[in-house]
Amino acid sequence: MRKKINRRNFIKKAILTVISLEIAYLIFDVFKNKASKKQNKDLFSAGKINAFEKNKMYPFNSGKFYLSVFDDGGMLAISIKCTHLGCIVQANDKGFDCPCHASTFDKHGEVLSPPATRALDIFSITFENGEILVDINNPIRRKGFDKSQLTYV
Ligand code: FES
Repeated sequence: MRKKINRRNFIKKAILTVISLEIAYLIFDVFKNKASKKQNKDLFSAGKINAFEKNKMYPFNSGKFYLSVFDDGGMLAISIKCTHLGCIVQANDKGFDCPCHASTFDKHGEVLSPPATRALDIFSITFENGEILVDINNPIRRKGFDKSQLTYV
């Protein structure tokens, strides 16, 4: 047997449904924003994009990386940790030197001379509100350099 729904009940149910959906959306939005803020808190802010010049390397000791900006605007966040035994590499005009066992790396972090056998790790770079954010908690291991590793604004 079909139940009759009068107009007043129908409108009440429709309004309650719309209000429920709106409340659910607001709750979802609050959780989404909290997750987004937490994620950004884990990223290292290197500063505003326009503060960096092309063809330069910028050290971030507290983030344990060098931010390299190349001629074409591509960027790499290169770990300061040598891939041989973990000493801290020093930047020079051509790339990086390791003071411990004399490994050298080019400006992209690729090995020029051993004992290190693989390129310096990199960190992923993202941009938000004109700022450069580096994911310093998740180093990316790599054998060598290729252009796909560069990040562009
Ligand atoms: S730790 Fe860098 S060459 Fe050994």
